[in-house]
Amino acid sequence: MRRTFQIMLTAFIMLAVQMYPAAAQSGTLGLADGFSTFNTSKFNVQLVKDSQTLYSLTPAGSSFNFIPTDMMTSRQANGNYHLGESRSRKVGSTAWVSGDSSTSRKKLTPATVSGSTLAAANLAPTLPTTSLLNITRRWVSVSSGVQLLFDVTNSQTTAVEIGSLGAPLEFNNIFTGRSAAQTNTLCSLFDPYIGQDAGFVQVTPLLGTLPPLVVTPVGKSPLEGWRFLPESTAATPFYQSQTFEGIY
Ligand SMILES: *[C@@H]1O[C@H](CO)[C@@H](O)[C@H](O)[C@H]1NC(C)=O
Ligand SMILES: *[C@@H]1O[C@H](CO)[C@@H](O)[C@H](O)[C@H]1NC(C)=O
Repeated sequence: MRRTFQIMLTAFIMLAVQMYPAAAQSGTLGLADGFSTFNTSKFNVQLVKDSQTLYSLTPAGSSFNFIPTDMMTSRQANGNYHLGESRSRKVGSTAWVSGDSSTSRKKLTPATVSGSTLAAANLAPTLPTTSLLNITRRWVSVSSGVQLLFDVTNSQTTAVEIGSLGAPLEFNNIFTGRSAAQTNTLCSLFDPYIGQDAGFVQVTPLLGTLPPLVVTPVGKSPLEGWRFLPESTAATPFYQSQTFEGIY
């Protein structure tokens, strides 16, 4: 058991939602504008330049990709969830206000970064104008893996209650259009342990011989819930079809 855990730690990505106190198929993802590539000590990472969402994630020295990169052109519309999106729901004076970075996607302006930060951008352009929160997303390389961090500040002059904060996790569990051999070689299945600060998501390549990817909270960002994210079922790769389990 201990041995397995150590193997998992050799290849993992961390996820955080860091909090600071108050003070269809037409492509909007930006695939045509290209990708940013970062080869870190643990992972080769590619982000879509415009959206800074994850395009590919391959452990250093491996050719196994945890992300459905080859399906990205079929999943570049508004409402298709990718790793790096943010979803939140806040209470206003009377009603909850939702903010979802995938609903009406806009190109982001990359922030100037240095040191271990690979990329960062404020999400304001791609959040609704009604958003009560100011969210900056950062991708950071650390010795143990790659961190995805969200810096959330209250952009209002009054207190805002955050009802929920979530981040979609997209991995390659898309079997559609693949032979059994391709599915076995390319795809992973993923499962959460909803264990608060000890929570994690394990992404296991179907091949059975490759180390799994483990997504863990950074600092105090407990894994409190796990739920299905609905997407359009109108176009291939037919979301939630028999061979596409869905993104959670
Ligand atoms: C990153 O690594 C990949 C795979 O080894 C290589 O093809 C690519 O040229 C590298 N890119 C950079 C920017 O170093
Ligand atoms: C959003 O927060 C960042 C700091 O994370 C700050 O630099 C920026 O000015 C804020 N933007 C707005 C519109 O409040």
